[in-house]
Amino acid sequence: MNLCQILLTVVAVILTQNSKTNDFNYNYTDPNYGHELGRHRIYYRVDWGGKPPKLGTKLLEHPVSLVIISHTLTLPCLSNVTCSSILRTIQTKHFAKPFLSADIGYNFLIGRDGGIYVGRGWDVRNFHRKISIGISFIGNFNFDEVNEEMIEAAEALIGQGLELRKISENYALVGENQTDPKMVISPGVNVYKVIRTWPRFYPKTMF
Ligand SMILES: *[C@@H]1O[C@H](CO)[C@@H](O)[C@H](O)[C@H]1NC(C)=O
Ligand SMILES: *[C@@H]1O[C@H](CO)[C@@H](O)[C@H](O)[C@H]1NC(C)=O
Ligand SMILES: *[C@@H]1O[C@H](CO)[C@@H](O)[C@H](O)[C@H]1NC(C)=O
Repeated sequence: MNLCQILLTVVAVILTQNSKTNDFNYNYTDPNYGHELGRHRIYYRVDWGGKPPKLGTKLLEHPVSLVIISHTLTLPCLSNVTCSSILRTIQTKHFAKPFLSADIGYNFLIGRDGGIYVGRGWDVRNFHRKISIGISFIGNFNFDEVNEEMIEAAEALIGQGLELRKISENYALVGENQTDPKMVISPGVNVYKVIRTWPRFYPKTMF
């Protein structure tokens, strides 16, 4: 085989793998997950006005034993209207990234309103690591402070993941900078100082 044939084979293999998930229900509006979690509202793709994912997202196998916390490095948002707008901007940005372009990168995002915004949801791999759930706080937490609503929303979400058996009981939780040496700025000092006190926080790096 010459180089061109090898490349074509590689492309064909990638396309075949991706096509496996084409029939997945990307609306993420499974009524079993609901629109409320305690006093937190859950906004699905249809609610925040997200575009359907492109080819290339893959299904997760459960339960997942790693939860990765990041921040979005955007402005913070106080209502579903502004949060939705930020999510749409992030999705457009992530679509434009080579290799990460399938969808908004995170499984879930959390706004200052305590709202939970569903990105890839429980069942699709994020752009961090193959087998993990990625939760991102909306804002820049090198400056912004995390509020009670956000903390509670993240805890409630992880609790739901455990209940649904999407997350394994002995999961480890880390900041994004513990999974990738290039991600020094995420999840930001003010998120980090909160998550490091959580019971399943894993204090070491994973690279
Ligand atoms: C998404 O939801 C709409 C409205 O309920 C439905 O018509 C459509 O078939 C759904 N798409 C998928 C991929 O399930
Ligand atoms: C925001 O939430 C309110 C009430 O929950 C709803 O009426 C409105 O449609 C939502 N807006 C967006 C952009 O999701
Ligand atoms: C991750 O970020 C926090 C906050 O900036 C910092 O204290 C911690 O040392 C960082 N960890 C790594 C592995 O870079």
